[in-house]
Amino acid sequence: MAYDPTMNKPAAEGGTLRTPVIVDCDTGIDDSLALLYAVASSDCEVVAVTCTAGNVDVRQVAENTRCVLELAGRPDIEVAIGRETPLARKLVTTPETHGHGGIGYAELPPARMPLSPRFGPDLIVEEARRHPGELTLVTLAPLTNVALAVLREPELPRLLRRVVIMGGSYRSPGNTAPTTEWNVNVDPEAARIVFEAFGGEGSNARWSERPARPIALGLDVTERAKLLPEHLARLAALAGCEPDGSIRSGGSSAGSAVNPIVRYLADALRFYMEFHSRYDHFYGAFVHDPLALATALDPTLVRTEAVTVEVELGGRLTTGETVTDWRRVWGRPPNLDVAVEADVDRFFDRFIERVGKLAAERS
Ligand code: RIB
Ligand code: CA
Repeated sequence: MAYDPTMNKPAAEGGTLRTPVIVDCDTGIDDSLALLYAVASSDCEVVAVTCTAGNVDVRQVAENTRCVLELAGRPDIEVAIGRETPLARKLVTTPETHGHGGIGYAELPPARMPLSPRFGPDLIVEEARRHPGELTLVTLAPLTNVALAVLREPELPRLLRRVVIMGGSYRSPGNTAPTTEWNVNVDPEAARIVFEAFGGEGSNARWSERPARPIALGLDVTERAKLLPEHLARLAALAGCEPDGSIRSGGSSAGSAVNPIVRYLADALRFYMEFHSRYDHFYGAFVHDPLALATALDPTLVRTEAVTVEVELGGRLTTGETVTDWRRVWGRPPNLDVAVEADVDRFFDRFIERVGKLAAERS
């Protein structure tokens, strides 16, 4: 379903203006939390979701994405598959982080909603052309689809209202190699294409005509968003159930019903928290993607600095590193607004309130 511009009107309740977004994801556990947050947010209109290979292969990404959207009560949202592999490398997935199926221990009924006939990158270009200056593109995955879209439509940076990227690590250690973050590491060639195209590199346009620089949330801020069991407990309480999703009827657990969204979160996050317990030595989860989605809806959640960033492609140990010119030694115009601080408490309050309310409604 293509985006209907009349949707971008104040929502019925409270007159909140909704931000129309296209989400590119590699669903994955934290991607699924971002999708739930988007659907639960009255200030968000999900125009479409495009799927990229990353955490799992792209077919599994598309299955997970549709299953989660159906769980959230939004089987109407268009979901399109993108490229099956990175631009120039073999696909490496991460079953140890998200599970072989990509959603940890969670089990969801097979997707019933159809896949879009459109190719992901084409969908991004076509919707941006239909609604010039209106759409925010939120990327939660390797940048393969976005690179293909901007190669097809060089005007894409000016056709989109904004791009918010979860990816990179601008002055913190990597999570995939010592200096590389997963989304950029999977497809560094795509990241370089996107950072150059959206940053106005080589653009002969006057400075005033250059597109808004992408907001980039790297591990510097997303690893401050540590979802802990107490966050899930607060969300479950809002939804009127136990942290494992069970609903006690008459004070006993006998014959317990289940809140489907809370049960999903509990099962998916248990896997993700066990992973972080092994690799990051805390029982919780870095929720990179929902923080990026929430920032797309409210950029005041982060403080950014305009910097010039290049992606290393030839390093024996550093390919995929987002090399950041903090001291401006290159003397080149900045191409990214890199998030350096994030109000994660305000983010978690919102996440819990919105997804908890959605879970209660969908109970
Ligand atoms: O490095 C974190 C990113 O990689 C997140 O988007 C997560 O889903 C994985 O794709
Ligand atoms: Ca992701």
